[in-house]
Amino acid sequence: MRIAILKERAPGETRVAASPETVKKFIALGATVAVESGAGASAAISDAAYSDAGAEVGTADAAVKDADIVLGVQAPDVALLAGAKPGAWVAASFDPFVQRERVDAYAQAGLEALAMEFMPRITRAQSMDVLSSQSNLAGYKAVIHAADVYGRAFPMMMTAAGTISAAKVFVMGVGVAGLQAIATARRLGAQVSATDVRSATKEQIQSLGAKPIFVESVAGIEGEGAGGYATEMSEEYQKAQAELVSGHIAKQDIVITTALIPGRAAPRLISDAQIASMREGSVIFDLAVAQGGNVEGSQPDQVVEKHGVKIVGYSNTPAHLAADASALFARNHYNFLSAFWDKEAGKPVLDEEIGNAVRLTQGGKVVNPRLLG
Ligand code: NAI
Repeated sequence: MRIAILKERAPGETRVAASPETVKKFIALGATVAVESGAGASAAISDAAYSDAGAEVGTADAAVKDADIVLGVQAPDVALLAGAKPGAWVAASFDPFVQRERVDAYAQAGLEALAMEFMPRITRAQSMDVLSSQSNLAGYKAVIHAADVYGRAFPMMMTAAGTISAAKVFVMGVGVAGLQAIATARRLGAQVSATDVRSATKEQIQSLGAKPIFVESVAGIEGEGAGGYATEMSEEYQKAQAELVSGHIAKQDIVITTALIPGRAAPRLISDAQIASMREGSVIFDLAVAQGGNVEGSQPDQVVEKHGVKIVGYSNTPAHLAADASALFARNHYNFLSAFWDKEAGKPVLDEEIGNAVRLTQGGKVVNPRLLG
């Protein structure tokens, strides 16, 4: 059983799909691990650290040659995988709805694509969930970056020269990233409020010491929502939400938006008119900027200034915390494969519930029901 890890090739991608810790653990399971030279360089992991952990370190071709499994953060181009065994597994983020051509290319190449972002949201798969591990770090980084861009302080400070009031932070979308954004902003001393369409988040917001701001006139999504996910809201709800947010946002200094809907463009939550109502020097961090953006006018990796408000957002937020993001992504991969490791066969054998959820291609065909419509 040969597991290969390549250097990520997508622009701006700094993460790597294995750490020395997971290399050691895969070897303990009986696997051979091969890592492309330089794969960990931008995540502060040297080639020597991988070889000390027991990995073979060499060229991409040498690493992939006869591989049974290739691990990635983002799925590599099929051209890089020509030397892998027929039917080899490739576990990575595939962005399958957007990068559909790549999925088709994997099918044609006879590879088995396993999309880590399709991991079902069930208790036993929590430790394998890359969306959670990466969103958590993204929520933290969004607040830290917003605090850096903001020309004022977060905590209240009473000094001999006078008092500085606490920053008001509003978090829109309280999933994994939003919860971490609330916790981080609170730790920095801000006054925090938050909103979501799923009613289950209300208590979570309160338990973190923040104030829930919720549409009451139109029903939102009961409880957690299907599989923990939101759906597109009715026009009536969107209108009520826009009114509620307009009143609130005008009094905020920092807004962090995190709202996503799987398989669709991110919902628009903040309009230009709402931006204009904010005080000059305010900051909006749009965590959904790469999925079309929650904020009108936001641009990936740029500071857009409108009405004196700075609108920021990274195209790949976890890549700005490469060492931690890689360590967690690597553990997600290990937790996934090791949970299914069949000792006698010396390889992982997936069960139906998780296998059918993550598998995109098999036997030359696209097989995932979410892609077959
Ligand atoms: P997400 O990244 O898909 O969306 C972020 C947040 O935006 C969600 O809370 C969503 O409800 C909210 N949102 C969507 N449209 C909105 C709108 N129009 N206005 C305001 N908010 C809007 O969500 P994420 O972070 O991936 O997690 C969602 C849920 O799934 C959480 O409850 C989490 O605890 C659960 N979860 C469960 C896991 C498991 O059991 N294995 C693993 C990961 C998450």
